[in-house]
Amino acid sequence: MVDESQTAAEPQVTAAGNEISDTFAAAQKRSAETLEKLRANPSKFTMLTGDRPTGRLHLGHYFGSIKERVAMQNLGVNTNIIIADYQVITDRDTTEHIGDNVLGLVMDYLAAGIDPNKTMIYTHSAVPAENQLMLPFLSLVSEAELERNPTVKSEMEASGHALTGLLLTYPVHQACDILFCKANVVPIGKDNLPHVQITRTIARRFNNRYAKKHPVFPEPEAILSDAPEIPGLDGRKMSKSYGNSIMLGATAEETAKLIKKSPTDSERRITFDPVNRPQVSALLTTAALCTGRTPQDVAEEIGDAGAGALKQFVTKAVNEFLAPHRERRAALEKDPDYVRDVLHDGNKRANEIANRTLDEVREAMGMKY
Ligand code: TRP
Repeated sequence: MVDESQTAAEPQVTAAGNEISDTFAAAQKRSAETLEKLRANPSKFTMLTGDRPTGRLHLGHYFGSIKERVAMQNLGVNTNIIIADYQVITDRDTTEHIGDNVLGLVMDYLAAGIDPNKTMIYTHSAVPAENQLMLPFLSLVSEAELERNPTVKSEMEASGHALTGLLLTYPVHQACDILFCKANVVPIGKDNLPHVQITRTIARRFNNRYAKKHPVFPEPEAILSDAPEIPGLDGRKMSKSYGNSIMLGATAEETAKLIKKSPTDSERRITFDPVNRPQVSALLTTAALCTGRTPQDVAEEIGDAGAGALKQFVTKAVNEFLAPHRERRAALEKDPDYVRDVLHDGNKRANEIANRTLDEVREAMGMKY
């Protein structure tokens, strides 16, 4: 018998740079092709994606993922969002603020245009049957495959925490998230590509071993965001820990303050030059995304007026863009019962789907007694 875990058919992502970029270019191409099919025939697609509830969403999340989710939902794709609460404890020892973070995410989704009648929102911890898929799925991957996931490695290094069993295996858990509702498209950032890859492997191996005649799981395709990456206000990666992120739910005043104190350079003329002027360019990119213009165009308009004028422009652009979102969010904050109801309803639906899928899995494996 061929042990597939030793002879995986697909190219593995390794430390060799070339291979990574080849793999990435191929993934981008497939993603574009999948998106084209999805736009032509949205009702044939089930989308699942999600976030870990470690804090509030910022503008980078909005342009990088939330906007696309809303667009897919409105196209008529069957859309599903996981709030990955168990993923929080992959690399930290506390669940402090988790309740607030989960409800805050639901509020941000709803304020951004996610419609709970069309999109199912659920959490790991409320759907036992989804988690139970972990057991058969873990049997389909080898330790070596888990160990060579580059994202797990870098997350472990970044956390300064020992590699927990959950961090090592969370890509398999992510496969449970994706496959329990038989999603065939998964919008993600580049760092999550290895997780979609392992999900495909798991789906294929499960079908091959247990369900040759009637495959239980689809092999889902990754959809990579085509939005330009929005840098933090200081030109570094947008991250809560750098304090350089514009939160969707912040007030207009907080946003103005944050932009005001963001670093720039001493050159008066404003130009878009991400390599040599990352900070000024980050401000221009932010303004451009919020106004639907190009950063070059915004730079031209500011011209010799300097960084002060640029910051005023950015503040106005961001606050005007986010005003309707913030208004809807403020209304939701006053109605926490409604927000909870949305989540409870999503969890209820997720349980029904997960129970059905787990039944099919039991059936395929002959575990119906
Ligand atoms: N791993 C993702 C992240 O950290 C979150 C996530 C959990 C996810 N389960 C998922 C994304 C399933 C897509 C599909 O951002």
